[in-house]
Amino acid sequence: MQSGSQTGTTGINDVVSIERQGPIALVILNNPPVNAASHAVRSGIWKAIETLASDADVWVIALYGEGRTFIAGADIREFGKPPQNPWLPDLCNFIEDCKTPIVCVLHGTTLGGGFEVALASHVRAALPGTRIGLPEVTLGILPGAGGTQRAPRLAGMRASLDLITSGKPISADQAIEIGLVDRIEKGAPRDVAVKVAQDVLDGRQGTRRTYDLDVDTDPAALTAMRDKLAKTQPLLFSPHKCVDAVEASPLARDEGLKEERRLFNECMESPQRAGLIHAFFAERAVAKIPEATATPRAIAKIGVIGGGTMGSGIATACLLSGFAVTMTERDQAGLDRGISTIGANLEGAVKRGKLSEDARDNILTDKLSTATDLGALSDADIIIEAVFEDMGVKRDIFETLDKVAKPGAVLASNTSYLDIDQIAAVTRRPEDVVGLHFFSPAHIMRLMEIVVAGKTSPDAVATGFALAKKLKKIAVRSGVCDGFIGNRIMTFYKKAADYMMMDGASPEEIDTAITGFGFAMGPYQVADLAGLDISWAANKRRAATRPAAERYIPIADEICEKGWFGRKTGQGFYIYDADGTRPNPAALEIIDAERAKAGVSPRTFSPDEIVSRFVTAMILEATRVLEEGIALRPVDIDAVFLFGYGFPRFRGGPMHTADQIGTAELVRRIETYSQEDSTYWQVPALLRKLAEGGGTFAAMNES
Ligand code: 3HC
Ligand code: NAI
Repeated sequence: MQSGSQTGTTGINDVVSIERQGPIALVILNNPPVNAASHAVRSGIWKAIETLASDADVWVIALYGEGRTFIAGADIREFGKPPQNPWLPDLCNFIEDCKTPIVCVLHGTTLGGGFEVALASHVRAALPGTRIGLPEVTLGILPGAGGTQRAPRLAGMRASLDLITSGKPISADQAIEIGLVDRIEKGAPRDVAVKVAQDVLDGRQGTRRTYDLDVDTDPAALTAMRDKLAKTQPLLFSPHKCVDAVEASPLARDEGLKEERRLFNECMESPQRAGLIHAFFAERAVAKIPEATATPRAIAKIGVIGGGTMGSGIATACLLSGFAVTMTERDQAGLDRGISTIGANLEGAVKRGKLSEDARDNILTDKLSTATDLGALSDADIIIEAVFEDMGVKRDIFETLDKVAKPGAVLASNTSYLDIDQIAAVTRRPEDVVGLHFFSPAHIMRLMEIVVAGKTSPDAVATGFALAKKLKKIAVRSGVCDGFIGNRIMTFYKKAADYMMMDGASPEEIDTAITGFGFAMGPYQVADLAGLDISWAANKRRAATRPAAERYIPIADEICEKGWFGRKTGQGFYIYDADGTRPNPAALEIIDAERAKAGVSPRTFSPDEIVSRFVTAMILEATRVLEEGIALRPVDIDAVFLFGYGFPRFRGGPMHTADQIGTAELVRRIETYSQEDSTYWQVPALLRKLAEGGGTFAAMNES
């Protein structure tokens, strides 16, 4: 032990220390950034308590964390590695069994294993504003250090089931209401620790062991939760196991904890756990970019050009994050449409409880200004263009922006597919030009692709990432190509779906198979929602450069010829009316006619084959995107699909899925499919190399 004489603290190890204040002993955790319960934290707490409990002069022990939070959970990075004693469940029992009363101070985000430590303590005091929860289910596991057994003793089965199966944190006020914490105290964690410990000493604060309380079995709550999960989470593994674990909570401690451990281990072994934890780290990994060391430019005022679907969505997102926005349109009618869409978006935020009515009114009067002249953007720090997807129109706008924007302003385009280098080339400041590709609806979708062109400067890129952070979005760096990371890969795998449709599968069969895999929507549901006219325009644009050998399926174009663009026109692949949504018989007739015209005899596709072809196509093009350096790492592609394209989170994204399938198996599949169409199905060199060398995409994330 190292002694720190000035402060009176004694270091147990690098992350845990103790300090005596008369009969009160403080156990202080300091494991930045989130005090995760790593091996050092667990062994440090154990040793600290062991030492203090054997000291007759210590009457109360108080545990608190330095920094922004008490323990935010087990150290997720240790999962999958050989376990090291003491385990968290044993530590929790050790705390609970301690004869000296233990106070636990909760602050910041006291989550998972951190809250389980608190549940095992004898008094829980939370700072106002603390978020408390058991989010393990979001990582594909369940609370495995007694959370499923101790929470029901304090809050009952029903409230515990809600907390554990949703994984959503609750406020300190809610926690006190349901009995999970004993008191709320203002002040620094250290001061609260001393105060509550003193109250225990003075008899003003009672103490108890959570396991001394009984749990009443609540069959109605268990059945209601099982029914709900069967409907809402049929594909997920761990939520159902959470219910089983809570059901075991009336058992004696040894038996209940044994059952919790058995179920926890089942979850740990599930591939869903690996997928969900990959998704957790993917969200954070994408910020690690070569430009991360550049200083972002300051942003206070944002210009948005275009008040259509995207422009008004982008303006809404910026306004909701507190920026002043100037929106421009071609004419007053365009502005009126844009203002009305922003108003409706903000109204939605009010309805969802994200914004007060007063704040909404202030935003509209104080933060939003409009103009029909690009000159109004001369004081904007960043200008985001969201006009028609037409290179000529965009180049005209950037030529004007070059004249009117202030020096140092970042000039961004929200184009879905177009070449940012070509757009930048019309300006005398290509270093300021970047792609900021938002997804629709822009004030809701979390993904943003930051498209880095040949001459984009590092600080313009860093500014894009800083803006995304302010907008609470997940930004992924992409290079320039037709469609960037996401739309380029989607354009490719959509063809695999179209080939299956032409060869015998109905749009509904394809959508059902893909949603059965876990996607939020199938490709034809997506196409109808996005508007078939959008891909129709893109098909026309690409017609001149489409290789003669490429198999082209004109079914969607034929549907557009009828004026049916999907949801917005009431029909497309499906019909949308007062009777609900159903396959469009007229679209099926078009499909039949096209098959007949091409001399195709339709065959049956099983759901497994549909998924296999669809996912293999996605991985194929994703590998090319990686090979070409458009995406920095496989994890960037995973993040794009998880946060922008409804890829099932529990599968971790296409590249994580590729490793699960195995690169050799993927090569085998592509070679099999290529016997039908050797133009479309070609093995990318990188995939072959990984397959031959036994490599993985995961390993490429590390390098
Ligand atoms: N283990 C390891 N690292 C963690 C971690 C954890 N539990 N929680 C966060 N980190 C890391 C992040 O990866 C990130 O690392 P980086 O800077 O290298 O990218 C860093 O800590 C900071 O995290 P954030 O950027 O997410 O910081 P925020 O302030 O935005 O959010 C947070 C903080 C709310 C605590 C958020 O990180 C979070 O939700 N963490 C996970 C919480 C969780 O799921 N806990 C349960 C763990 S499982 C468990 O406890 C099992 C038990 O029952 C046995
Ligand atoms: P939209 O047609 O809804 O809106 C475009 C708006 O731009 C119209 O209101 C039009 O009046 C305005 N406009 C045209 N020329 C202008 C000019 N010179 N000055 C000011 N305003 C002008 O189109 P949408 O869907 O909003 O798309 C805009 C851009 O965003 C396109 O580049 C598109 O590819 C891209 N995008 C679209 C997505 C979508 O899902 N709709 C998703 C991501 C990007």
